Amino acid sequence: MRIYIAQDSAAVSVGADALAAAVTRAAPEATLVRTGARGLYWLEPMLEVESAGARLAFGPLAPDEAAGVLAAVRAGDAARHPRHVGTMDALLAQQGQQRITFARCGVIAPTDWDDFVAHGGGAGLRAARAMAPQAVVDAVKASGLRGRGGAGFPAGIKWQTVKDAASGTKVVVCNADEGDSGTFADRMLMEGDPLTLLEGMAIAAHAVGATRGYIYLRSEYPDARRTLLAALSVARAHGLLGGETGLDIELRIGAGAYIAGEETSLLESLEGKRGQVRAKPPLPAVSGFLGRPTLVNNVMTLATVPAILARGAARYAELGIGRSRGTITLQLSGNVKRPGLYELPFGATLRHLIEGLGGGSSSGRPVRAVQVGGPLGAYLADAQLDTPIGYEEIAQARGMLGHGGVVVFDDSVDMAEQARFAMEFCDAESCGKCTPCRVGSVRAQEVIDRIIAGEQRDANLQLLRELCDTMIHGSLCAHGGMAPFPVLSALDLFPEDFETARSAP
Ligand SMILES: Cc1cc2nc3c(=O)[nH]c(=O)nc-3n(C[C@H](O)[C@H](O)[C@H](O)COP(=O)(O)O)c2cc1C
Ligand code: SF4
Repeated sequence: MRIYIAQDSAAVSVGADALAAAVTRAAPEATLVRTGARGLYWLEPMLEVESAGARLAFGPLAPDEAAGVLAAVRAGDAARHPRHVGTMDALLAQQGQQRITFARCGVIAPTDWDDFVAHGGGAGLRAARAMAPQAVVDAVKASGLRGRGGAGFPAGIKWQTVKDAASGTKVVVCNADEGDSGTFADRMLMEGDPLTLLEGMAIAAHAVGATRGYIYLRSEYPDARRTLLAALSVARAHGLLGGETGLDIELRIGAGAYIAGEETSLLESLEGKRGQVRAKPPLPAVSGFLGRPTLVNNVMTLATVPAILARGAARYAELGIGRSRGTITLQLSGNVKRPGLYELPFGATLRHLIEGLGGGSSSGRPVRAVQVGGPLGAYLADAQLDTPIGYEEIAQARGMLGHGGVVVFDDSVDMAEQARFAMEFCDAESCGKCTPCRVGSVRAQEVIDRIIAGEQRDANLQLLRELCDTMIHGSLCAHGGMAPFPVLSALDLFPEDFETARSAP
C-alpha cells in the first residue's frame, strides 16, 4: 500500500505530521510518501491512498480517523467513507483546473529525482539544450508568458534584452521573496516541486547565456529553504546544474523586508547592501547584479518555462484571453470556505473563483470586498466580480492582478480601517529613499484618522486624494506609487465607511 501525505508547511500547520504518524502506526507495512501540497487547503490534513492505479483522497482527517480510512480502503469500501473526496485528478478537472506549472506539486516526493523524471521532469531542459539559445527565447515569446511577480512584463522580451546585452558574465536571479499578503504559490512550488524551478532557471541560463544563478528566498520560508538546498544537491548530482552545464545556482536568504521583493532592491540586498530601490534606467536586464546583465524572474515565471519547452509554446498560448496567455496560479484566501491554490486558464471570472470554487465566505455572510494582487492591489466590490481574470481585464476594472493573490472579506469589514492599513503597511515597509512614500504614507494615516474621527471630513477627504495623487506620480517605485490604490478604491467603492463614525475608536 502506498500512501501520500503532504509535508508542505501549510498542511503541517494543520496537522499533516500527526496524521502521518498515525498512518505509520496503523499501517507500518505501507510506504508513506511525503509530498508537496495539492493546494486544496480546506481538505488538509489529507491523505491519498493508491488503489487499483488511482489515488483515492480523504480529508480533512484527524489522526484518529487514519486507521478507519485505511480499513475502508482494504475492504474495498473507500467510496462510502464520509471523508472520501474521490481522486485528486477528478476533483481538479471538475474545478476546471489545468495544472501546468503545478503538474507535479503534491504528486511526487519533492526532491526524488526518479519520481521527478518519471513524471516528465527534465524534458523541458532536454528540449531547450537541443535548441539554439535564440530559439528558446523565441519559444518563450511565442508562449505569451508574462512575468508572474506582479508587473506582468512579457518574459520573452526580458530574456531577449539579457541575451542581447554585451557582457561575458550574465546572471539569472529567481525572485522568491513572495511578500504579498495572501500569496503562497511560490512557497508551495518550492516546497513541493523545487526541481522544476531549478530546471526553469537552467533553461533561462541557457537562453540568455548566464553562468551564475541566485535564488533570493524570504527568510520566513525555512521549509522551502531546506527543500531547495536538498534539490540543489540532487540537481548537481544529476547534471541539471554544475559540471559541464557551466551553471551553478546559489540560495540566498533575505532579511525580512517586503521591499526586497522589488527587483532593484533585491539586487542591492543580494550584493550585501541595505535593500533600497535603485533608480531605473539602467534596467537590471542591462546592468543588474554587480553591474552585470541580470535576468530577474519570479518563481512562477521560471517554473512555468519547463512545461512550455516540453509541451510546445503553441499549446501554452492556446489557453487564456487577450494578452494573458496560459494559466494563472490564483491563491484564494481570507474569509472564504475553500481557500487554496487554483491553477486556471486566464479568463475565468473572479466570481467563479470566489463563489463557485471558493464556496463564498466561510462566515456565511455576504462577500463585500476582495483585494486582488497583494497589499498594493485595489479592493473590488461585488459589481466587479464578473471581471474575467486577465492582466488588462482586471486593470480595466481599476484593479491589479499582481502575483495572483485574492483575499476575500465579508460585510463585517471596515474599509476605512483597511484603507488606513494600506498606508500603515506602506510606511512600515518603505525603503525610505523618496519623500512621497516615506513621509506621505505617515501623513496619509493621520488624515485617515481624522476622517474616521469625523474631523473636517470633506477637507480631509480632499487632502487624502491629493496626497494619493502625489504618491502615485512622485514615488520612485511602485511601493509608494501603488499604495494609494487600495485607499482610493475604498474611498470610491465604499464611501459610506468613511462617512459614518463606524471606525471611531
Ligand atoms: C514593492 C514591490 C514588491 C515586489 N515584491 C515581489 C516579490 O515578492 N516577488 C516577485 O517575484 N516580484 C516582486 N515584485 C516585482 C519585481 O520587482 C519584478 O518585477 C519581478 O521580480 C520580475 O519578475 P517577473 O517578470 O517574472 O514577474 C515587487 C515589486 C514591487 C514594486
Ligand atoms: S516609493 Fe517607497 S519603497 Fe519605493 S523607492 Fe520610494 S521610498 Fe523606497
